[in-house]
Amino acid sequence: MAHQERTFIAIKPDGVQHSLVGEIIKHFEQKGFHLVAMKFLQASQELLKQHYIDLKDRPFFPGLVKYMNSGPVVAMVWEVLNMVKMGQMMLGETNPADSKPGTIRGVFCIQVGRNIIHGSNSVKSAEKEISLWFKPEELVDYKSCAFDWIYE
Ligand code: RTP
Ligand code: MG
Repeated sequence: MAHQERTFIAIKPDGVQHSLVGEIIKHFEQKGFHLVAMKFLQASQELLKQHYIDLKDRPFFPGLVKYMNSGPVVAMVWEVLNMVKMGQMMLGETNPADSKPGTIRGVFCIQVGRNIIHGSNSVKSAEKEISLWFKPEELVDYKSCAFDWIYE
């Protein structure tokens, strides 16, 4: 059976305000990512500071926390084979200007400080982010009826 890895994906406040929630979720669903958890919330500054702790010394950190706290987000956990590469391919580059047209950032946004979506960039950071945003009992374990049609 194909080995699955979990990733934390969040639609940022600008993605929500642009009414892109359904559109973005559709990309992951149709690609074959497996939905494990989802919630809609306005994240606290404390949570966001923890989430972006590795960037705390960067000049854009205060603005980043303010932006992420400026409205509701959709926090999700998705499972997929080879999630780092697959996630990067779906989201595009951090800067939308460097993102390919078929990627979410390549299609739906313009600037790095308003790049509408977050995705974990390693298995380790995914584990950290998932435990920060979700309680273990919020992660749902089930088999998708399409599994055997997605994986050989
Ligand atoms: P993310 O964590 O949000 O998925 O993005 P990423 O890994 O592609 O990029 P990262 O380096 O982790 O940066 C996190 C977020 O900070 C904002 N940013 N602004 N103004 C700037 O130069 C700048 N650089 C990064 C972006 O919102 C980026 O997604
Ligand atoms: Mg990152």
